[in-house]
Amino acid sequence: MDAQTCILTRRSVRKFTQEPVDHTLLEQVISLAAYAPSWKNTQISRYIAIEDPTVQQAIIDRFCLPGSNNPAIIASAPLLVAQTFVKARCGFERDGTYTTDRGEGWQYYDCGIAAQTFCLAAHDLGLGTVIMGVFDRKGLEEYLQLPEGQELMALIAVGHPDPSVTLTAPKRKETDVLLSWR
Ligand SMILES: Cc1cc2nc3c(=O)[nH]c(=O)nc-3n(C[C@H](O)[C@H](O)[C@H](O)COP(=O)(O)O)c2cc1C
Repeated sequence: MDAQTCILTRRSVRKFTQEPVDHTLLEQVISLAAYAPSWKNTQISRYIAIEDPTVQQAIIDRFCLPGSNNPAIIASAPLLVAQTFVKARCGFERDGTYTTDRGEGWQYYDCGIAAQTFCLAAHDLGLGTVIMGVFDRKGLEEYLQLPEGQELMALIAVGHPDPSVTLTAPKRKETDVLLSWR
């Protein structure tokens, strides 16, 4: 798949088949996501692959927030990936001070780039994904027992897209709205 097709045809997938995600396929996605650009090549993004249905159900029951469709998405997905990051490296000097007035923000920026690279790589390999930001972060961090010095960024549901669902792109803004010249 060429880059433009990959960018244009990737959709947030919220319904999956029951087919498990092969471990080698996920490893391939991760090895491609590792090529995302990052602050001074700090590569802070990490991934916890959750395929245990008991853990997935606990996340649905205890850490999803009311009003989102995320419980149904997680229930449908054979694999849930928790994206975490190593704190206090990206955007920081060696003495622990911020490099710029963006403060902690560069960490989130780098995670976003890594997540999109992950999703594009997955799409190229025939997998569907959706990034989810609506959950009880602190509660889930504690439940997942993150390694020391890491923070939970996002959840990404991963699986083989349900072929009965037609995926259409939500409307995008026109270039003249997005772009200005000086
Ligand atoms: C940071 C972030 C958080 C998101 N959180 C959720 C979420 O909690 N639940 C959900 O169903 N979709 C979530 N999405 C997916 C967006 O709704 C989706 O990307 C957007 O509607 C555009 O659709 P597309 O991805 O198919 O192009 C999230 C996307 C991003 C980038």
